[in-house]
Amino acid sequence: MSKRVRKAIFPVGGLGTRFLPATKSMPKEMLPVVDKPLIQYAVEEARAAGIEEFIFVTGRGKSAIEDHFDFSYELDRVLSERGRVKDVQQIKALLPQPGDIAYVRQQEPLGLGHAVWCARNLVDNEPFAVLLADDLVLASKPCLSQLTAAYTGGNLVAAMEVPPDQVSRYGVLDVAGNEGNLIKVKGIVEKPAPKDAPSNLCVIGRYVLDPSVFDHLARLQRGAGGEIQLTDALAAMVGQVPFHGYRFEGTRFDCGDKVGFFEANVAFALERPDLGESVRSVIQRYAKKK
Ligand code: G1P
Repeated sequence: MSKRVRKAIFPVGGLGTRFLPATKSMPKEMLPVVDKPLIQYAVEEARAAGIEEFIFVTGRGKSAIEDHFDFSYELDRVLSERGRVKDVQQIKALLPQPGDIAYVRQQEPLGLGHAVWCARNLVDNEPFAVLLADDLVLASKPCLSQLTAAYTGGNLVAAMEVPPDQVSRYGVLDVAGNEGNLIKVKGIVEKPAPKDAPSNLCVIGRYVLDPSVFDHLARLQRGAGGEIQLTDALAAMVGQVPFHGYRFEGTRFDCGDKVGFFEANVAFALERPDLGESVRSVIQRYAKKK
């Protein structure tokens, strides 16, 4: 039986140095894919999966994210005066219910595990989701919904195969067995060298986690890259709680990478009824040029 997951953590404290200068004074999570910021895709995906409480782990210079999910009086007034009813409704629809969104600060960028740990006091003793906005998934059933439907307890992570020479960018699963889309996991390693990787089945930024992960994160042990890694806490929990990967259906775009971000823009624009055709003809025009 699947277990209800009500809370989600969005780690958004990262500096986004790969997108400088765009991210010098703007959070990378506010970069738009077509016309919607990355973080909004993540929040909508969480909402579609039944998430009721949204916990953002932010840092300095990230206030644009808080403003994005807040009411904007000026905008509302101007749009209303101009009779732009649809825009007013669209902007209102992205607001969470008052009190359903919370922000905690990660004071220093000490890693993903540390970011998740910073949210511990806002998550009670219940399973919760983690969404990394950099990973954008285009799917007919949203990726987190696929995970929550399959979740029966313990730790569950979204997984996909990547070319073996790219495993060093990811958390990599050590596979014990497969049952359909579910993968039984017996270990996980953060960013191994290709020769040390247990497989090429990698974690992408969607997790449903057992709350006991906070006890492991509380040790604040440094791992790969000198950071406190979520992967290391999950590795320490193997054998204590069930651990599965889930081969999600859909296409994932690495929006933390310039080419991946560009590709996401193309793919999402092509899906749009209002833009698809014109974008396709632009692409064809450029494809003919050298
Ligand atoms: C993080 C995780 C890694 C995971 C990846 C997915 O790495 O640490 O295990 O595979 O997200 O995108 P980052 O991309 O933050 O370096």
